Amino acid sequence: MRRMAIALSKGGVGKTTTAVNLASALAARGRTVLLIDMDTQGQSAKMLGVAGEHGVTEVVNGEMGAAEAVIEARPGLGLLAGGRALAGLKRVIDRKEFGGEQTLAEALSPLDGAFDYVIVDTAPGWDVLTVNALFYADEVMTPVALEVMALQGLQEFTKSLAAIRRYHDALALRYVVPTFFDRRVRKSDEILAQLQTHFGPQLCRPIRYNVRLSEAPGYGQTIFEYAATSTGAEDYRTLAERIVDDERA
Ligand SMILES: Nc1ncnc2c1ncn2[C@@H]1O[C@H](COP(=O)(O)OP(=O)(O)OP(=O)(O)O)[C@@H](O)[C@H]1O
Ligand SMILES: [Mg+2]
Repeated sequence: MRRMAIALSKGGVGKTTTAVNLASALAARGRTVLLIDMDTQGQSAKMLGVAGEHGVTEVVNGEMGAAEAVIEARPGLGLLAGGRALAGLKRVIDRKEFGGEQTLAEALSPLDGAFDYVIVDTAPGWDVLTVNALFYADEVMTPVALEVMALQGLQEFTKSLAAIRRYHDALALRYVVPTFFDRRVRKSDEILAQLQTHFGPQLCRPIRYNVRLSEAPGYGQTIFEYAATSTGAEDYRTLAERIVDDERA
């Protein structure tokens, strides 16, 4: 079971878009996938067009069993929803005297091995919920919007990751996914070249800017349901292929 956190402190870089569409692409390839939303915005459920009336909070609070709280969003794609209830969970974790960072990992241990992939979407910023997601994960995927200062943001984030790795050394920044790629914008290529220099082995093929990706959530659909032949669908299929190829590694 691969556990992957999709994270970057900077907001609006395509974390949720990547989490939902990658999870869906992996399920389409016959993998069983659990998507976990650790954001109080609760976007993952909305993007999949499901109510998300229960999820992570109920599991951690012990109100529901982990398996019972999973919503079958699509065949092969389960969802542990996030949303506003997570704010309360944050306070519960904050009040813990020790071991707070392992709260999620402990609560989810009954699901160990139950899925091929667990994809955890995280909120922007850096809070206890993100830290919990990173203590649970083995791999980090970081979407990076191709814009000025992208590299600085990523380098800051890798420092925060290094701090976690001191206590959780299995955690690796495995994938850097450039997003909002636009060939017509010269800086896109420049920033891509910088990423290649600093993160060559982790660098994935870019996700192009595609308006279909921003429209699909309004219909509660993945990009594959909303616009199967769009460049967005093509790019997320390609990303899933790379992830699956690494199963052998
Ligand atoms: N490749 C893309 N092309 C066009 N629009 C995109 C692309 N990727 C994401 N978007 C849109 O950009 C916005 C931000 O994306 P998203 O919500 O995935 O970012 P995020 O990193 O999860 O944001 P937050 O930090 O607030 O959680 C959304 O409206 C989304 O639909
Ligand atoms: Mg998001």
